[in-house]
Amino acid sequence: MKIISLQGILIYFSILFSFSALGQNKSERNQELIDKNWSFSVGHLYDTDKDFGHATSYFSYLAKTGFGDGPAAPGFDDRAWRKLDLPHDWAVEQDFSEKASFSHGFKAAGKGYPEKSIGWYRKKINIPKTDLGRVISIQFDGVFRNSKVWFNGHFLGTEESGYNGFEYDVTAYVNYGSENIIVVRADASMEEGWFYEGAGIYRHVYLKKTNPLHVAQNGTYVTSEIQNNDAVVSAEVTIENKGNYKGSIEIVQNILDATGNQIATVSESATAPDFYKTAKFTSKINVKNPLLWDIDTPNLYRLVTQIKQKDQIVDSYETSFGIRTIRFDPEKGFFLNGKNIKLQGTNNHQDHAGVGAAIPDELQYFRIQKLKEMGSNAYRCSHNPPTPELLEACDKLGMLVIDETRLMGINDYHLNDLKRMMERDRNHPSIFCWSVGNEEWNIEGNSTGERITNVMQGFAKNIDPTRPVTVGISSGFKSGISSVVKIMGYNYLGNGDIDAHRNQFKQQPGMGTEEGSTFATRGVYFSDDAKHYQSAYDKKPRPSFYSIEEGWKFYAERPYLAGMFIWTGFDYRGEPTPYGWPSVTSYFGMMDVCGFPKDNVFYLKSWWGKEPVLHLLPHWNWAGREGKEIDVWAYSNCDEVELFLNKKSLGKKKMERLGHLEWKVKYEAGTLEAVGYKNGKKILSDVQKTTEIEENIKLTAHKQILANAEIAVITVETTDKKGLHVPNANDEIKFDVKGGKIIGVGNGNPTSLEKDTFLDEISLVAITNFQERKATTADASKQLSANTEEGWKEAFKDRDYKNQAPSYAYRGQFELKNNAKVNTVTFFYKKIGLESTIFVNGNIIQPTTEDPNKYVLNTAILRQGKNTIHIVAKPLQKEKEWDVLNTDPGIIQVIIPSEQWKRRLFNGYAQIIVQTDGSGNDITVTATGKKLKTGTLNVSLRK
Ligand code: GAL
Repeated sequence: MKIISLQGILIYFSILFSFSALGQNKSERNQELIDKNWSFSVGHLYDTDKDFGHATSYFSYLAKTGFGDGPAAPGFDDRAWRKLDLPHDWAVEQDFSEKASFSHGFKAAGKGYPEKSIGWYRKKINIPKTDLGRVISIQFDGVFRNSKVWFNGHFLGTEESGYNGFEYDVTAYVNYGSENIIVVRADASMEEGWFYEGAGIYRHVYLKKTNPLHVAQNGTYVTSEIQNNDAVVSAEVTIENKGNYKGSIEIVQNILDATGNQIATVSESATAPDFYKTAKFTSKINVKNPLLWDIDTPNLYRLVTQIKQKDQIVDSYETSFGIRTIRFDPEKGFFLNGKNIKLQGTNNHQDHAGVGAAIPDELQYFRIQKLKEMGSNAYRCSHNPPTPELLEACDKLGMLVIDETRLMGINDYHLNDLKRMMERDRNHPSIFCWSVGNEEWNIEGNSTGERITNVMQGFAKNIDPTRPVTVGISSGFKSGISSVVKIMGYNYLGNGDIDAHRNQFKQQPGMGTEEGSTFATRGVYFSDDAKHYQSAYDKKPRPSFYSIEEGWKFYAERPYLAGMFIWTGFDYRGEPTPYGWPSVTSYFGMMDVCGFPKDNVFYLKSWWGKEPVLHLLPHWNWAGREGKEIDVWAYSNCDEVELFLNKKSLGKKKMERLGHLEWKVKYEAGTLEAVGYKNGKKILSDVQKTTEIEENIKLTAHKQILANAEIAVITVETTDKKGLHVPNANDEIKFDVKGGKIIGVGNGNPTSLEKDTFLDEISLVAITNFQERKATTADASKQLSANTEEGWKEAFKDRDYKNQAPSYAYRGQFELKNNAKVNTVTFFYKKIGLESTIFVNGNIIQPTTEDPNKYVLNTAILRQGKNTIHIVAKPLQKEKEWDVLNTDPGIIQVIIPSEQWKRRLFNGYAQIIVQTDGSGNDITVTATGKKLKTGTLNVSLRK
C-alpha cells in the first residue's frame, strides 16, 4: 500500500479547498508544460536529403491538408534522434568559428551554416478520449525563428518572429484516446538582431485545454485607478466561443490578494458570443486600501475570471496584476505611485553564460536579483519582447520595465507584432513604457520616421492607453521621430545636444534609453589590445561616448530627465567591440556573461543604492611590479576614504558626490586597506590582500535548497592556504555531478573559446548503395555466402509487387569515422520485410528486448571506415495497389560520449549551472584541478 504523509494529505486538501472555493472543476481549463522529452535533430537549409526529404513529396503540406512529409509526417521514425528537454538553444552547443557571425558571438550556427541552421523537434503526446469536446491548443512562448508547426501531419502555420509567443488550435486534428505528434521546424538561417539570438525552441511550450467557451488567448486587460485610498480595478475580458452554445452566461471576476484571500468579487450577466466570435466585457471592481505595487514592495494581486454557463463554471482564467500609478512629467521626470523616481536602468539582451538563449526560469530571477543588488530599478528589453518569465521576475522582484518590439513599420508584420507583445504583456505592473523602436538610422531623422512613429504610437494607445511610447534615438536629437515621440529616448550623450532638444520640445519628457557603452574586462586592470584586455577602471571608451560616471552625473543632475539605461547590465554574446575574433562576447556589461561584477557595479551601488558602500580596486597580486605605480580607486558613498598600504596611511580624501577616489600607489605586497568615514566616524573598510598560490577549490551555490527541475548557479573559485580568494587564478577545473546535471559552464572571459556545453555527440549515418537480390535458398546465412557478386541490383527498383520472390537479400554500406570502444552504435531498423535476419560485417545481430527493431552493435564487429549490412527478409505485400511500402532500411546512430565537463577560471572565477535530474536526490558537485584540493558541494532538494 502506498503511504501518504500527513503533510501530503494536508496539501491535497488545501489544494482541493482553494480550488473548490472558486468552484473549479475538471472540465475547465488546464495548461500543462510540455518541455520534457522532445526528439531533436538538425536538418538542412536547402539540401532536402539532409533535411530528411522534407517538402519533396508529390503533394506538399501546402497542397493537401495533413500531408506533412519527412519529419513532419506522423509516422516518421525519429528513434535515432537526440532526446532533450526544453528550453533548448542549439547555437550555444556549437563550437566557435572565426567565419561565423560577429554579432552572434561567432557560434558556428545559423547564418552561413546551412547544416546548422535548421532544427527539427518532435514530441508525442497522449490526449484522452475524455478531452473530446474541449478546445485543445499548443502554446509556444517563442521559437528562434521562422518556425513551422505540424500536428499529426497537419500544417498549422508559420511564425516568422523569434520573439513572439504564438498558439495553434489543434482540436480538429487530435487523435483522441491515442498518440499525437507535434513537429516543429525552426529556421535560424537569418538573423533578426545584431546580437546573439540563439536557435530553436528556447522558451516554454504548453498544451492547453479549455471549454469551447473560454477566455481568449491573452484575453484579459486589467487597469486600475486610485481614488482616495481605494482602487477601482477595471477588468476587461475577451471571451471566445468555439462551440455552439447560444444564450446567457455569467462572468464572475474575483480579486485575490497575495495570500490567496478573495478580497473582491463582481458578477455580470451577458450573452455568449456567436460561433467562432469574440466579445469583450468589462467589470469595475473596488479594492479598498490596496497594497500598491512598488519597486521596494512589489505587491501583486490575482484576478480570477470565471465564465459560467447555466451555473456551471466552464472556464477559469488567472491574471496576475498590480495596482500602481505611473506618470511622466516633462519638468520632473518619472513618478511611481506619486513619488518621483529616477530610473536607474540597464539594457539587456536575453542570453547568459553556458545556456545561451535557453534560460531556465530561475536564472531570470538570478539575473534580475543581481541587477537589483547593484541598485538598478529599471530594465530595458533591448531590442525585442522578452520571455514571459523575465517579466514575471520583474513583477515579483520589483523592477520597472521598458518592453520593446523588434521592428518599426506600419504594416501588419510590424503592427501585429506590436499588438501581440502589448496584449501579452500589458497586465505586468513592472512595464511602465512601450518602446516601438531603436536606432532606426534610415528613418529616425526624417519624415518617414515621424509618420511611422505617429502610426505606431496611435496604434499602441488603442491597445493600452495607460502607458506612453518611446523610441531610442541616436542620430541627432532634432527632427523626425524625436519631434513626435511621446517620451524621447536619448541613445548616448555623445550623439547630440540633449539640453538643446529639451529646450526645443519643452513638453516632451525624456530619458536616456542607452548610455555608457563602456568597455571593461572583469578582473583586468591593464589594457592590452594584443590580449583583448580592457581595463576595468571606468573610462571614456570612445570619442563620442562617455564613462558610466560621466553619464550618470549628466542624468542625475537634470530633474527633467527621467533617468538612464546603461548599455548594458550584463555582457552578452556578440558585438565584442572594440575587438573581433577571438573575442566572442561584448565588453559593455556592468557584469560579465555569468553575472560576476566588474568594478563599475560598485560605482553604481554607491550612487544608486541605499546602503553604505566601499570598494577598493584593483586586487593586490602584482608580483613582478614591485615599486611600480598602480592606480588604486575607491568606489564609495562615504564622506571620506583613507587608504593604507601595510598599515601606512597614504592619505584621506574627500568623496565628491557621484564621484570616485584615486591614488597612485607604488606596489609592495601585503595589505591594501581603505577605510570609509561618514560624519567623521569610521563606518566601513575594504581590503585587498596579496594572496599565495591557489590550493583549494571553493564552490558556492546561489541557493541551497532547490525545488524539482530547478537550477542552482554555482560559483567556482580557488583560495590560497589561508582561505583567501585568488583573484588572478586561471586553473582548469573539472566537474562531476551526482543527482543532477550540468546544463552550461562559463567564466566571463570574452576571449574564451572553451565549450559552453559538454554533450554526447550524436551522428546519424545513412546506409548507402542499398541493393537486393532474389533469394536462392531459404537459409539466410547461405544466401549471403552464395556466389557473392551475382544478381545484385538497386534495391526496390522497378519491383513487381504482384510477383515478388519468396525472400530477398539486401545489402548496403555505412561509414564509421572511428570505431572507439566507448561509442554506442545502434541500428534503428525500419521494416522492409518480414522475419528479417540482419548481419553486420557477416555477423548476425540481435535486437534489444525493449524494441524488436533496434540493434545495439558491438564495436568488436565494427570497423573504422566501410561496414556492410545485410538483411534477409520475406517481402511485404501490398493490400491495395496504391499502398506505399517502406523501402528505407533505417539508420545507424553513433553516440560519442562527451569528455568531462570542465572550465578554466577567468581571473578567479567560473560558473556552472546545475539542474536537478528529477530522481528526487540531492545534488553533489565535485570539482578537481591540477595541484588543487578537490572541492565538493551539496545542494539539497526540497523534500
Ligand atoms: C547601440 C545599439 C545597441 C548596441 C550598442 C553597442 O547603438 O542600440 O544595440 O549595438 O550600440 O555600442
